[in-house]
Amino acid sequence: MAPTKQLTLEDCRDLDSSDTLAAYRQRFAFSSNGNINFDANSMGAMAVDVPDRIQKLLTDGWRDKSRRAWTTEGWVDRPRELGAKISHMIGAGENDVVVCDNTTLNLYKLLSRAWRTRAGGNVILTEAHNFPTDLHVAQGLVGFLKELDVDIRLVAVETREELVAMMSPEVAILYLTQVDYRSSERWNLAEMNALARSNDALTVWDLSQSSGALDVDVLGADTDFAVGCGYKYLCGGPGGPAYLYIHPRHQKSSWPTIAGWLGHKEWDKFSTQYEPASDARSHLTGTPPVVANEIFSAAADIWQEVERTDVARKHESLTETLILLLEQECGALGVELNSPRDYQQRGGHISFRHEGAGPVSEAMVDHGLVGSFRYPDAIRLGMSPLYHSHEDIWNAVQIVKNVLSSEVWREPKYEKVSV
Ligand SMILES: Cc1ncc(COP(=O)(O)O)c(C=O)c1O
Repeated sequence: MAPTKQLTLEDCRDLDSSDTLAAYRQRFAFSSNGNINFDANSMGAMAVDVPDRIQKLLTDGWRDKSRRAWTTEGWVDRPRELGAKISHMIGAGENDVVVCDNTTLNLYKLLSRAWRTRAGGNVILTEAHNFPTDLHVAQGLVGFLKELDVDIRLVAVETREELVAMMSPEVAILYLTQVDYRSSERWNLAEMNALARSNDALTVWDLSQSSGALDVDVLGADTDFAVGCGYKYLCGGPGGPAYLYIHPRHQKSSWPTIAGWLGHKEWDKFSTQYEPASDARSHLTGTPPVVANEIFSAAADIWQEVERTDVARKHESLTETLILLLEQECGALGVELNSPRDYQQRGGHISFRHEGAGPVSEAMVDHGLVGSFRYPDAIRLGMSPLYHSHEDIWNAVQIVKNVLSSEVWREPKYEKVSV
């Protein structure tokens, strides 16, 4: 068999020269120490105009307009506006998404709401290794309802095969994270929604590790409810708000779990009797975080300019290149792919195993590459289709190769591993 052609730096540069999203790199600010931050699956980069926008918010808004800025600067409407601006990135309509609270709170709002609108069944079905907060929300809700003598069960299975086999009319809600935060394994949204539907179950998805990287189409896949983090690929800023999505067929049917004044259909009339807004806005609660929303707005304005399918295409190319290069350059140094090889089966980041994963990830930072370690032996690299290039991937893999071949990671100073 003829040897497979080796990928070169020139090949990476060729791929970059035909990248239709290349210009967006300039819209983001990069680390002043020159590090390559491959942690978009954990914290997306800062849009370059964030400092100016915050400065303006503080002076023109807070200092000069004070209370009136809620209206004149649109602060109060920002959760709906942000939702509308990012809605195409998950294939939703503009009124189906709002940006608010964090993912955990939104999961609670939607899981409890799904429970109240379920067709039948008493089981919330999930995976035992779902992200901890997703599991805790379900454990908390089930525990609370059991105290009220409600007949409800949480079933968390170990494997995908078990999960599919468990689907039956007993399942009220299929509750999953689309992309596994460690291995990057991906569920097929449309297939799982169809399976749930054929058993009269509703679906609640966590898209935190998908949106802003993959081609997520919640409406096309007939998804009931979904949430996602704002601060990962979507670049909403550290601790920035999350989003929630509700299929239009569920928007009018009942009250939200937390009925707050800003979810009222005419909140500015200050009525004392709650009446839910007619769309996803009913799940807004109280005063929004204005500064955090301004940071997210800088990124949302960029997302408005791009097509979800272009983003996904570039992301596929970046991750394919990373897999090829990691195996080509570091395969003989003990690196083993820990994510599915088939693009349709994997999510936003690439995870690889190495016996010294923790210290290796620490040494990588010292040598200019930021990824993240996940216990016990995996390193995750999350690339952004908006601001990373194929050349970045070449450079990142050379850093991994250097750290491994020099064995610098064995130095005692790398023993203490950060999260
Ligand atoms: C799948 C998933 N869900 C939720 C979260 C975090 O939720 P929150 O925004 O409430 O901290 C993360 C964070 O990494 C995540 O990966």
